[in-house]
Amino acid sequence: APIVVLASGTGTLLSALLDAGDGPDSPFRVVAVVTDRDCPAAAIAVRRDLPVHVLPIGTHASRVEWDVGMTAAVAGYRPRVVVTAGFMKILGSAFLDEFAGRIINSHPALLPAFPGAHAVADALAHGVKVSGCTVHLVDAGVDTGPILAQAPVFVEPEDDEITLHERIKAVERGLLATVVAAVIRTGVDIDGRKAHIR
Ligand code: GRF
Repeated sequence: APIVVLASGTGTLLSALLDAGDGPDSPFRVVAVVTDRDCPAAAIAVRRDLPVHVLPIGTHASRVEWDVGMTAAVAGYRPRVVVTAGFMKILGSAFLDEFAGRIINSHPALLPAFPGAHAVADALAHGVKVSGCTVHLVDAGVDTGPILAQAPVFVEPEDDEITLHERIKAVERGLLATVVAAVIRTGVDIDGRKAHIR
């Protein structure tokens, strides 16, 4: 099944999805990458001969136009699932309506703790001994959709944001690819806030 990946950053999660999708018995294949900025993730997609669409918000007349543009760019590939992998923008109602229930995000904290763009720094500042990552369905909120899977990562005494985030990303890479494959293979039952991969 085709999936489209949205990214904004260094693209390590994108790379993990590309490698998993190239596997012989993978139920999904990444068919395109869409980013909101020129970033290493876009360069990775170009190097792997994938279609890449770079849609900076600033080049659109309004946020709504950007959201409509993002929706059109992704819809053209008719993806079964959209994965936001280090994508740092909040998607609007046009996008959420088009792909409702089929957008999967990975977040580097154990939601509902530490939502938002500085999760790793916030967890460290709070003094947690265990953090981790969360794979969830995207809804209109910020990191608030139904949770599909989580994995713990222990905080080491000498950790700073970089070292902890790198260790979390190592776990995220495996968890995200595994959950995307499982969702494609069997689907998800959503009951209110509870999401269960069949
Ligand atoms: C990941 O930890 C993701 O959860 C967070 O940003 C990081 C993206 O890393 N939103 P990369 O850009 O895929 O390397």
